[in-house]
Amino acid sequence: MVTGAGSGIGRAFALEIARRGGAVVVSDINLETAQETVAQVEAAGGRAWALHCDVTSLDAVQQMADEAERLLQAPVDLVINNAGVGVGGKPIGEISMADWEWTVGINMWGVVYGCHVFAPKLRALGRGGIINVCSTASFAAAPMMGPYNLTKAAVLALSETLAAETAGTGVSVTALCPTVVKTNIFQAGRIDASATPLMNKLVAWTGVSADGVVTKTLNALDRGELYVLPQLDARMIWRAKRFIPATYTRGAGLLSRLATARL
Ligand SMILES: NC(=O)c1ccc[n+]([C@@H]2O[C@H](COP(=O)([O-])OP(=O)(O)OC[C@H]3O[C@@H](n4cnc5c(N)ncnc54)[C@H](O)[C@@H]3O)[C@@H](O)[C@H]2O)c1
Repeated sequence: MVTGAGSGIGRAFALEIARRGGAVVVSDINLETAQETVAQVEAAGGRAWALHCDVTSLDAVQQMADEAERLLQAPVDLVINNAGVGVGGKPIGEISMADWEWTVGINMWGVVYGCHVFAPKLRALGRGGIINVCSTASFAAAPMMGPYNLTKAAVLALSETLAAETAGTGVSVTALCPTVVKTNIFQAGRIDASATPLMNKLVAWTGVSADGVVTKTLNALDRGELYVLPQLDARMIWRAKRFIPATYTRGAGLLSRLATARL
C-alpha cells in the first residue's frame, strides 16, 4: 500500500514493489495520476489497483485500508506513508498560518493516520513493514522551511517510536531521509518565488532519481534497518548534526544566507 503514489517517490515505490513480485495498491489525492501509476505497473507485467485517498482525513485512510484488503484479498503487509508536500522560501513569522496547517495536515497527520490504522493490523499479522517517508529536513534545520522541517521531524520521531514499539514483533519500520530527489514536489509545493533560483540549482546539481532511492530503501527494509540516508550529503548532514549540533545549525543558517545572496 503506497500513499501519494501518483508521482515521484511514491510511483517509484509502486513500480519497484511490482518488479519484486508484489501486488500493490496505490492511492493519491489525484486519482488520475494514481491510475497512470497502475497503468505503468501493469505495462511492466505487475498487478496494481488505484484508490483515491486524501491522507488528511482519518476516515479516508481507514476506508483506503479496508478497500486495499478487499482488492488484495489478503492483509496489507507493507505500508509506505509517502504522500507529502513542500513549503519553503519564507522565515518563521512570515509563513501564513494556512501554509503551516496545509503542511502539517498532509505531511504529519497523514503519516500519523497511516500508522494509526496499519500498525495494529501489522502487529496482529506478526510480519511486514512500514516505511515512513521522512527527509533530511527531519534533522537538517534548513532555514526558510519551517513547516516542512517541523512535520518531517515529527514523522522521524513517530517512526523511531513505532520501531521501538514493534521491536521483536516481526514488523519492521524504516524511515527514509533523502536530500534532493528529482520529482514534482518543487513545482507542486508552495515555494516562495524568492527561493526558486536556489532550489532550481540544488535540484540540478544534487538531485537524484527516485528509482535509486526506493531500491536502497526496500533493500534496507529487507535488512531490518531503521534509517535510510540514501545520499552522501544526507549522511554528512546527519553526522555533523550528531557531533557538532550547535556549530552545524549556525553554519547551515549562514551558508544558506550566503547562497541566497549570491543567486
Ligand atoms: N523530492 C524530494 O527532494 C524529497 C526529499 C525528501 C523527502 N521527500 C518526500 O517524499 C515524499 C514524496 O514526495 P515526492 O518528492 O515524490 O513529490 P511529488 O510531488 O512528486 O509526489 C507527491 C504525491 O503526493 C500526493 N499528495 C499530495 N497531497 C496529498 C494528500 N493530501 N493525500 C494524498 N496524496 C497527496 C500528490 O498528488 C503527489 O502525487 C514526500 O513525503 C516528500 O516530503 C521528497
